[in-house]
Amino acid sequence: MNIIVCDSYDELSESAAKIVAKQVNEKADCVLGLATGSTPVGMYNVLAKKNKAGEVDFSRVRSVNLDEYYPISPDNPQSYHYFMKENLFSKINIDMANTHILDGMCKDAEAECERFERLIESLGGVDLQILGIGQNGHIGFNEPDSSLNSHTHLTKLTENTISANSRFFDDISEVPTMALTMGIGTILAARKIILLANGAAKRNAVSELLDNSITTESPASMLKVHKNVILICDRDAYPGGANV
Ligand code: F6R
Repeated sequence: MNIIVCDSYDELSESAAKIVAKQVNEKADCVLGLATGSTPVGMYNVLAKKNKAGEVDFSRVRSVNLDEYYPISPDNPQSYHYFMKENLFSKINIDMANTHILDGMCKDAEAECERFERLIESLGGVDLQILGIGQNGHIGFNEPDSSLNSHTHLTKLTENTISANSRFFDDISEVPTMALTMGIGTILAARKIILLANGAAKRNAVSELLDNSITTESPASMLKVHKNVILICDRDAYPGGANV
């Protein structure tokens, strides 16, 4: 795993955006795997600036998102549909018809997950997957468990995740308890992965990612079997901390 330790969140965002822009400039119709949450917001802002400055063109890019709450309407400001429009899609020249997010309103979750797997296949697979990491080591909404699901699936969120994500809601009781998420196998099938981690709250999760074990109790540790992963973190999230 390649590791980039940054001095600040701004530097992390610039560093990640540079890798995404390079990918798009090398392959104009590449497939980007996108994440939500607070960590990639800075990177999305930098990408929007680069797009406006003519440094990167998203007009032929295809995208698939990691996950979506369930059930949730795309108009709900807490939905990941809404998040992506607000934080990226409305700010760049991507064709909305080329953006794909799991349907949080679907009646048949199993069929929706199967559709998403087939969709990724039909796009030719993900060229570059962007990931954040949960305080509990989750990637996408693959929560720590005794076993992990390889494919896109419906999952129950842990108390830890519900509590961490409650900061986006008026009340913790409003946080959905279920989500649709790409599975670990879906994520590992991406040709390249960048994992972003910012702040001291992520240090334990990053530490587990970097130690020698691979365990379903730390879903991010599964990334160790992938040949092309870059961890981009700030000093607070990096276990070596200030001494790096
Ligand atoms: C979001 C996602 C989650 C987040 C993780 C970190 O699409 O899949 O795994 O990446 O919960 O979230 P933040 O960045 O808000 O700390």
